[in-house]
Amino acid sequence: MVVDKAHWSKVAQQWITWARSPAHDAFWAYREALVDYIGPGSGSAIEIGCGEGRVSRVLKQLGYRVTATDPVATMVDAAREAESADDYAICGADSLPVEAGKFDFVMAYNVLMDIDDMQAALREIRRVMKADGTLFVSLVHPFRDRGRFDGPQPDAVFVMKDSYYGRKRFDGEEASNGLRMHFAGWSQPLQNYMAAFEQEKLAIVSLREPIPSPAHAERLAQSARMPLFLWLKLRLLP
Ligand SMILES: C[S@@+](CC[C@H](N)C(=O)[O-])C[C@H]1O[C@@H](n2cnc3c(N)ncnc32)[C@H](O)[C@@H]1O
Repeated sequence: MVVDKAHWSKVAQQWITWARSPAHDAFWAYREALVDYIGPGSGSAIEIGCGEGRVSRVLKQLGYRVTATDPVATMVDAAREAESADDYAICGADSLPVEAGKFDFVMAYNVLMDIDDMQAALREIRRVMKADGTLFVSLVHPFRDRGRFDGPQPDAVFVMKDSYYGRKRFDGEEASNGLRMHFAGWSQPLQNYMAAFEQEKLAIVSLREPIPSPAHAERLAQSARMPLFLWLKLRLLP
């Protein structure tokens, strides 16, 4: 059963408020590092699962001509309203309405965890990439995803009760600063991602485990000890 679009349609307004509240979620603590790691560009880029558009706006700022896509119309409307991209499409990652080999850069920022059929998404991403194009993937770090800190203090013990292995559903609400966000998706070990990349002949050429910027270091002290995100750049094998 396809549940990803249904879930995100239900929580779209919640996400838009959550993602747009200044310095609210972790994204803002990593934005500077993201800009540095991607670096300036001038080609064509597509974002899958753009949400309200904040990552597409980063790509535009870096010089790319950006197509922002998401299967949820409310998300694409919000991205358009914020002038996040040059073009927009309402579509899932497994059916991008663009010709093959069109994009220099494909962005999948914190979205592969939300997609029911990751393999189909990667197959479609591969189709729309130029032969020398780059795929950028950001994940909640699979190690971090499987455990919890046992308290809010910076030196809290990180506890992992269940197995690291296997594909597991996550479904739960986060609350902070008076806002709530209902997240749902799939948690999987690193090797599941690697196997899916291998099947599409996508090779990791660069990897980062970014740390929060100094301005957010106190608020996200635990994430300076243990990575929250994993960033990958991948290229197509010939
Ligand atoms: C956690 S949000 C990330 C949004 C944006 N990339 C960001 O980081 O701000 C996940 C997004 O993935 C989208 N999504 C859900 N299922 C999808 C699918 N099958 N294909 C593409 N995007 C999907 C959701 O609608 C939502 O906008």
